Amino acid sequence: MYTIIDGKKIASEIKHEIAEEVAKLSIEGKKIPHLVAILVGNNGSSETYVSNKVTDCKEVGFKSSLIKFGNDVTEEVLLNKIYELNNDTDVDGFIVQLPLPSHISENKVIEAIDPEKDADGFHPVNLGRMMIGIPGYLPATPYGIVELIKRYGIETSGKNCVVIGRSNIVGRPVSILLSQKGMDASVTVVHSRTKNIKEIVKQADIIIAAIGSPYFVTADMVKIGAVVIDVGTTRIKSDETKSGFKLIGDVDFENVAPKCSYITPVPGGVGPMTRVSLLRNTLMAATKA
Ligand code: GUN
Repeated sequence: MYTIIDGKKIASEIKHEIAEEVAKLSIEGKKIPHLVAILVGNNGSSETYVSNKVTDCKEVGFKSSLIKFGNDVTEEVLLNKIYELNNDTDVDGFIVQLPLPSHISENKVIEAIDPEKDADGFHPVNLGRMMIGIPGYLPATPYGIVELIKRYGIETSGKNCVVIGRSNIVGRPVSILLSQKGMDASVTVVHSRTKNIKEIVKQADIIIAAIGSPYFVTADMVKIGAVVIDVGTTRIKSDETKSGFKLIGDVDFENVAPKCSYITPVPGGVGPMTRVSLLRNTLMAATKA
């Protein structure tokens, strides 16, 4: 029998913890955390993610603001907005939702963000801090994955962990966090150029699937008793949901789950944890000395 890792429930517990902290700040007359989200263009997934992030802020008592730009905004205008937010003392943290239109350099945008307001933990300074294990803002999805693993008491020490995907925002950073002292996993990162992915994944005690390819992980790739964390969120049109869309994970859940000890669902697994990680980073930004 397998356990479904309930990201929604854990995220809700963490949100309660954060809301309590905010209530305390308010009683003490301290500043209420303020997160700003910048959204460029009209990518449907990005619009949903950003509006969820704004809702989360309201739920825990943060102040939040949304700044929208059209798809044709110039890099210069976007960078100037970032400099403005860097200097705005009312703003504790902000994010620029990715992906950006191709005429804007994501790297330039990320590097323009003040590392102390980098609620997504994407700035090279924060990634560098993570790399050497000193406090900083952690990328939201990896942070959420690690928290799920910890709160479910899943042993990682000495375990063979295979991360599928090497993106800057999930695969690569989560591979670093899992191999760090305290987590102590042996981590292999596989990607589009890896030979024998199937054989490598089959050796894994813990599989983190973060490639954005629906149903990529099939039952024949999974060892009995493995822990499977599904980061995939491919959006497809659907008549079954109110929104008209459905999220599909990277794992063939139905056939993989019976082989697992623990598995995350999509939706309701990693997604809600990504969102609370952003809240945790914002709280840290607002309360650090
Ligand atoms: N696009 C996909 N995931 C994320 C995220 O966590 N933060 C931002 N800013 N953009 C994303």
